Amino acid sequence: MQNNKKGYLISFEGIDGSGKSTLIINLKKYFEKNLKNKFIYTREPGGTKEAEIIRNVLLDAKNDISYENKTEILLLLASRYEHYTKLIKPALKEGKIVICDRFIDSTIAYQCNNNDSLKQFFLNVSSFLIKNFTPDLTILLDIKAEQALARIKKRNKNNRYDKRKLDFYKKVRQEYLAQEKKFSRISLVDASKNADLISKQVIEIILNKIS
Ligand SMILES: Nc1ncnc2c1ncn2[C@@H]1O[C@H](COP(=O)(O)OP(=O)(O)OP(=O)(O)O)[C@@H](O)[C@H]1O
Ligand SMILES: [Mg+2]
Repeated sequence: MQNNKKGYLISFEGIDGSGKSTLIINLKKYFEKNLKNKFIYTREPGGTKEAEIIRNVLLDAKNDISYENKTEILLLLASRYEHYTKLIKPALKEGKIVICDRFIDSTIAYQCNNNDSLKQFFLNVSSFLIKNFTPDLTILLDIKAEQALARIKKRNKNNRYDKRKLDFYKKVRQEYLAQEKKFSRISLVDASKNADLISKQVIEIILNKIS
């Protein structure tokens, strides 16, 4: 157990449109009826007042903003440090189950995409902030980039991250799959299936983990 914690951090990963937020809403409905007070729902970047301010800086679509890769990683890590220190760590100490929409695997898949020196930079700075802390379980919603993009086209959001293209998502997906091969904490779920089936499957994975 890390940091004397009693709870569990469960992160949800996958490319945009893979269905993370939809799945989390469905899990919430289920766990509201069972184990309500044990669960906390949060997201990255963000999750606390301070971290949400940094989220807004990252997602700002007003100007033609393009951060240096390392600047973006540092902003994400700053937001994660706030989130981890003020919300995640205390919640885990209390024995809560923290459901988090995106966490470290997103930073690796999106911001360090296929670049070893960026990965090293990320891992080094991260280790100063949260040591070797990782989620206890990660649900990776895997889907073809084409299918995910078709889903989000209907959604009409407009932040800085929503302008990315098919090739980008294909690479991010491959990076996620490479992470899944490396870490046993990551559980691969076929996200092309029906949303109800996915939530049933994931509820089972979670109950297995926390029982
Ligand atoms: N299993 C599913 N089958 C069909 N459509 C789905 C499924 N899951 C989610 N969707 C739809 O796809 C769209 C994207 O889903 P959602 O917002 O949950 O993805 P996300 O992974 O949270 O994306 P982002 O990373 O951009 O926040 C939504 O319109 C949602 O209703
Ligand atoms: Mg979402």
